[in-house]
Amino acid sequence: MRSETLQKARDFENQYGPHIPDEERPAFHVTPTIGWMNDPNGFSFYNGECHLFYQYHPYSDEWGPMHWGHLKSKDFIRWERLPAALAPDTDYDGSGCFSGGAVELPDGRQLLMYTGVRRERNADGFFQDVQTQCIAVGDGLDYEKYEGNPVLDAKDLPEGGSAVDFRDPKIWREEDGTYYAVIGNRASDSSGMILLYRSGDAVNWEFVRVLDASGNQYGKMWECPDFFPLDGSQVLLTSPQEMVTVGLEFHAGHGTLCLIGDYDPQGKGFVRKQVQAIDYGLDFYAPQTLLAPDGRRIMIGWMQNWNTIGAKPDYCRWFGQMSVPRELSIRDGRLFQMPVRELEKYRRQRIAHRNILVCGEVNLPGICGRLVDMTVTIRPAGHDFYRWFRIHVAKDGEHDTIIRYRPDQGTLKLDRTRSGLPYDIVHTRSFLVRPLANGELKLRIILDRFSVEVFVNDGEEAASAVIYTRKEAEAISFEAGGTALMDVEKYELVFE
Ligand code: FRU
Repeated sequence: MRSETLQKARDFENQYGPHIPDEERPAFHVTPTIGWMNDPNGFSFYNGECHLFYQYHPYSDEWGPMHWGHLKSKDFIRWERLPAALAPDTDYDGSGCFSGGAVELPDGRQLLMYTGVRRERNADGFFQDVQTQCIAVGDGLDYEKYEGNPVLDAKDLPEGGSAVDFRDPKIWREEDGTYYAVIGNRASDSSGMILLYRSGDAVNWEFVRVLDASGNQYGKMWECPDFFPLDGSQVLLTSPQEMVTVGLEFHAGHGTLCLIGDYDPQGKGFVRKQVQAIDYGLDFYAPQTLLAPDGRRIMIGWMQNWNTIGAKPDYCRWFGQMSVPRELSIRDGRLFQMPVRELEKYRRQRIAHRNILVCGEVNLPGICGRLVDMTVTIRPAGHDFYRWFRIHVAKDGEHDTIIRYRPDQGTLKLDRTRSGLPYDIVHTRSFLVRPLANGELKLRIILDRFSVEVFVNDGEEAASAVIYTRKEAEAISFEAGGTALMDVEKYELVFE
C-alpha cells in the first residue's frame, strides 16, 4: 500500500520536475527530479539494469525529511527517472529514510536496506535521533516496507556503539547466498567505526565484528561505508565527519577515506595497510560502489560537500548532483579511478594537437566548450623548465576555473574562485601528484555544465568541483611560466 506521504512526493515531482528545462541541468551528471539530493543509495544492478537511488527532499533546495529518489540506466551515463521509492511515513522512519543499499533477491525482487530515523527526547530533554536499520522489498518501482522493521536496532550494537549514530547500511550478497552489510557507527571514544553484519535471508541479522575504527585519527563519525575486494586487496570506503587536515592528504571537515588492506573473514578480519583520500577536489562525499555483471567495480559519489552546500545560486529548482560513475582499480597500493568507459560512446568531434610549445598563454583552434572530455599531457621543453602550468576552463571575461600544476612542489590545484559562486568561501584545493616515469603529467578533464572533474595520470588521483559559471563561458586556454610542451586531445560530449 502506497502511503499518503509517498504519494504526495510522487505527485509533487510529477507536477514540478518537468518544469526544469534540460539545459538548466547537467547534461550527464545525475540531479534530483526536483529539490534537494545528497548521497547515492542502492547503487546496484537489478533485472540487468543499473539502479540508483538518492537521498531526496523534493520540496525545497535544502535538506529535509529524507525520501529516496530513484533512477535507472543501461550505461551509467543516460538515466531514466523513476518515481520516488521511499518516504518517511512510519513511526520508525518518520524523521527520515537515510542512506542505504540495495540487492537483488533470488526470487527476483529487489530489497532496499536503509536507516530509519526517529526523534526522541534524551535524558536532557533534547530531541535526538534514534537510528535503526530497516528493509523494504519491491519490483524496481514500488516498495513495501517490512512489517517487522526495524531489522537492526540498539540491541544489535557492540559494546560502546551509539544508537544515535548508527546508519548507512551497504548490503551485498555473497556467492554462497549469505548477505552482509557494513554500517557506520560511533564508538565510545566518540569517533567512527564500521560494523559488519550477516544474514541468511536479509531479514534476520547478526553482528559479526568491528571492521575498522577511526580511534580519533581519521575524523569523527564514519558515514556511508562500502567494503569490497579489488585487484587482490580489500577496500573499505567511508566518509568521515570532522576530519583534521593532514598535509595535503585530508582537508578539514567532511572528507573521504579509502582504506586498503587484507581481509581474512575467519581470522583477524580487515587489516588496514594503506590510507588515502578518495577524491582530492572540493565536492565529493558519500560514494557507493557496485559490482557490474562484467566484473568492473564502479563508484558514484555525491558531487558536493556538506561544508560547501551554502555556496549555491539564490534560487535553484534542483540542488546536488552525482559524480560521473568511475571504474576503480588498485595499482601500487593506491586506488585508481577513471570515468566509466561508456562515457566514450558520447564523444564526438575529436580535435588533437601534438607538441604544442606553451610559453605564456595559448589558445588552440577548436579547443573550447562546456561539454568536454579532454586529455592534456604536459612535459618539460628545452632549458627553461616550466615552473607552473595552468589550464583555464569555463572561461570568459569574468569567469575562470583553473587547474594549476607546480612541478617543483608536485602539487595540482583546483581553483573555482571565479566559477559563478557568489560567496567567499574556500574555493581552492591542492593535492600531491607525481609525474609519470617519463616526466609527463597527464590530466583528463571532464566538463559538464555545472562541474569539472580531473583525473590525474590515468586515475591515480581524482578531483571534483561543482561550478555555476554561466554556460556562455566556454573558452579553454593553457599557460606556462617557463616553457612546456603539451599534447591535447579533446572531444565534445553529445547526448541527443
Ligand atoms: C551522509 C549522510 C548519511 C545519512 C544521510 C542523511 O551524507 O549524513 O550519513 O544517512 O546523509 O541524508
